[in-house]
Amino acid sequence: MEYSLPVLPYELDALEPYISKETVEFHYGKHHKAYVENLNILIKGTGFENSSLEDIIKNASGPIFNNAAQVWNHSFYWMGLEPSTPEIPFGKLAKAIDTKWGSYEAFVADFSRVAVGTFGSGWAWLVKKADGSLEIESTSNAGTPLATGSKPLLACDVWEHAYYIDCRNARSHYLHSFWRLVNWEFVEKNFE
Ligand code: FE2
Repeated sequence: MEYSLPVLPYELDALEPYISKETVEFHYGKHHKAYVENLNILIKGTGFENSSLEDIIKNASGPIFNNAAQVWNHSFYWMGLEPSTPEIPFGKLAKAIDTKWGSYEAFVADFSRVAVGTFGSGWAWLVKKADGSLEIESTSNAGTPLATGSKPLLACDVWEHAYYIDCRNARSHYLHSFWRLVNWEFVEKNFE
């Protein structure tokens, strides 16, 4: 089975002015694409050739895990962004965020702190734990909550390749842009 790069649910320039077309061209068109191509090469002739991405993530290690997880993480990241989107959560998710953090603003501050504070390359996640509660998690490199059993609701890629074109080294600047683009309908759907 060959994996392919998923089609973005919007145009390459749709996230402007917050995330530039050039960033998406590189991040999606080169980095994400390379993970897909590397994974296809790496699984050839192994027991993972006909496995689902989720199965590979749960059972593989080393380069196969890294590339499979990065394929999944990026596909999930792009789905969590949208150009014209309600700017705050709604429905049951909004209630759960208020219960845990007190307010949307407090949640954003906490998530941003975790994202900006993630050492080196990695990801910040809003996840639903097995007991139904919300949590913010940070993973390094290709790490993904899929491997630990939490249900991912929202991902923020904090690898430098996600923001160096638009924000140079200013990850906190990128976080400001990120919040303008979160697809809360997608997050809400994942929560339910
Ligand atoms: Fe990335």
